Amino acid sequence: MRALAPSSPTRPTGARRAPAGCKATSAAVALAAGLVGCSSTSPGLGVEARVTPADVRARDEGVARYRSHHASLREDFDHLSRLIGGIEAARGDGRSVEAVRTAARFLERCVRPHAGWEDRAVYPLLDDHVPGGDLLTTSARGQHETIERQTRALVEEAARPAPDAVGFARRADQLLGVLRLHLDFEDTLVIPLLERHVPADVLAKALAEPPPPSPRATPEETPLPGSP
Ligand SMILES: [Fe+2]
Ligand SMILES: [Fe+2]
Repeated sequence: MRALAPSSPTRPTGARRAPAGCKATSAAVALAAGLVGCSSTSPGLGVEARVTPADVRARDEGVARYRSHHASLREDFDHLSRLIGGIEAARGDGRSVEAVRTAARFLERCVRPHAGWEDRAVYPLLDDHVPGGDLLTTSARGQHETIERQTRALVEEAARPAPDAVGFARRADQLLGVLRLHLDFEDTLVIPLLERHVPADVLAKALAEPPPPSPRATPEETPLPGSP
């Protein structure tokens, strides 16, 4: 996919035909790489006169909360990685079903509240304010759909009477890679684009709804003894 020329303020023709899911990430990266540095005619630029220092402060605090939540999620993903490792360690002594279900529960708690909050509070701002945002949100929402589809499949596998522990661990590990790449995508492209193109008062208002609290592992979600 050819990146937009940095000076182009227009949306690409046929952007909504971009493929959904993680395969679209590279296209969005190429697009956004041009957009982050462009001199834009964002709708936000015409209303900056009404933005106050308090708006800017509130916007910066909201963005800091958003980034901090992503940092917490990265720690949660590290914990999930240990839970997945524990599935292998539990094989053969009857604990693998318990280990699979524990990992599935924690995965679900990591993924669903956060994605729901972004779909509701954050992604609409891309559509409304970021040049080319429709392509970016097509990619971002496609990633969320891919993550949700894979999460649902793992939760369903864990709920079976005799889940395939080896297959679950392999697919959960692959999903962890997708999740980490997705956070990179949002930290390096989505958030900078929001900061650049969304008026501070609008972004502050959207981010006034805080992200859901990090799931933080319960005592029952401790990796089993023998886990890596
Ligand atoms: Fe996301
Ligand atoms: Fe996120």
